[in-house]
Amino acid sequence: MAVIALKCPSIEVAVVDISVPRITAWNSEKLPIYEPGLDDVVKKCRGRNLFFSNEVEKNVAQADIVFVSVNTPTKSSGLGAGKAADLTYWESAARMIADVSKSSKIVVEKSTVPVKTAEAIEKILTHNNKGIEFQILSNPEFLAEGTAIADLFDPDRVLIGGREETPAGLKAIKTLKDIYAHWVPQERIICTNLWSAELSKLAANAFLAQRISSVNSMSALCEATGADVTQVSYSVGKDSRIGPKFLSASVGFGGSCFQKDILNLVYICECNGLPEVANYWKQVIKINDYQKSRFVNRLVSSMFNTVSGKKIAILGFSFKKDTGDTRETPAIDVCRGLIMDRAQLIIYDPQVPEEQIMKDLLMPKCDWDQTGSTIQIGEETVWQSVKVVHNAYEATKDAHAICVLTEWDEFKSLDYKKIFDNMPKPAYVFDGRNIVDVGKLRQIGFIVYSIGKPL
Ligand code: UGA
Repeated sequence: MAVIALKCPSIEVAVVDISVPRITAWNSEKLPIYEPGLDDVVKKCRGRNLFFSNEVEKNVAQADIVFVSVNTPTKSSGLGAGKAADLTYWESAARMIADVSKSSKIVVEKSTVPVKTAEAIEKILTHNNKGIEFQILSNPEFLAEGTAIADLFDPDRVLIGGREETPAGLKAIKTLKDIYAHWVPQERIICTNLWSAELSKLAANAFLAQRISSVNSMSALCEATGADVTQVSYSVGKDSRIGPKFLSASVGFGGSCFQKDILNLVYICECNGLPEVANYWKQVIKINDYQKSRFVNRLVSSMFNTVSGKKIAILGFSFKKDTGDTRETPAIDVCRGLIMDRAQLIIYDPQVPEEQIMKDLLMPKCDWDQTGSTIQIGEETVWQSVKVVHNAYEATKDAHAICVLTEWDEFKSLDYKKIFDNMPKPAYVFDGRNIVDVGKLRQIGFIVYSIGKPL
């Protein structure tokens, strides 16, 4: 919304939320999320044509277009638990829009939703027909965290789905298209029917995650055979039909979207009587879980089959660099695996506060494959096993091993000689992101394990 405000000075954008602390933070000097470049954009527009407010109903009533960007988490109980999207927030937003509207509006689905959600939303919006017309558009977002502003300034495509079959639907599509046309070339704005737009979003995330699981599955084979996964993915990616992006082997993918969207896709396939298709996509998540547990197993087995009482430095907790977001970060599963093996963890992340790390490790984890059952480690065990510190040197002091779990740039240029001197020997590095200079570290004396590389 901030980028729309920046690129379209003639449009007034009001961002509304029921949370007072969140809106207060958006109106303050310190924005509530860390995202490179966002501060600049907000500062340029805030108070001009970008406003943050708790007056939800008033602003919705006055708007011509309402973008709904509420949370759509995976359902944790009831029908479809562990897989289906929970549309509670979406439904209450739609009811509120219907109740407060006094003029016709375009309602845009911005949150990722299951296919055919627009149909349900349409029903809610029109249920107490007051002579007001609502047009529903699906306008899924493709930005990635950490590069959000660059992605929005120069998107590969903008996707707008609507009721192409009606004149009013076509008019609504054009209205939204004209907004994006302020800065996005026409040929990159794709207009489709509603269901194609909704499904394309789930499909794009599933394809992206599938690439990572594919290369991660190869990394296991590389470790077993002596091939180097970096060389394999480089060679594979040179095929112009495959392309080089999104082929970096890692400890596993994280983030709020990939797993949730694939589970959603799996659920939709199951509901539509397509178990073979559902199983195909499930495998992408299974390989991701396998990659995380493989990382823990490899660490424990190479440290003489026990990490009990050993200090392990965890460098990085967020799900990728340049964000403080920890949703579904592989670090949660890796840390929990190590805690179960009774390791002592010293965790450092440049952006994730201690409070968040502890919250993530204490939270019961929903087992997606067991229809919503949860796995939890005792609270006392977590508190006794984890310490969060403020820099990498403090984390690694006296540690038996270092795990790199996020590819933060600062981890590439640490003084590893100094770190080595402060660790008991043998000193191990388990690089879950393949970012350290293996040759240099081995020269210093470290035993280095990378993902998908020979020892
Ligand atoms: C992802 C998609 O990339 C966006 O296009 C989409 O809009 C977004 O989800 C969403 O649905 O909201 P995001 O989750 O922010 O964006 O981050 P990604 O850059 O996709 O990374 C996801 C995870 O995959 C991270 O844990 C990252 O470290 C991992 N990854 C990525 C790899 O392990 N290897 C790679 O080669 C690339």
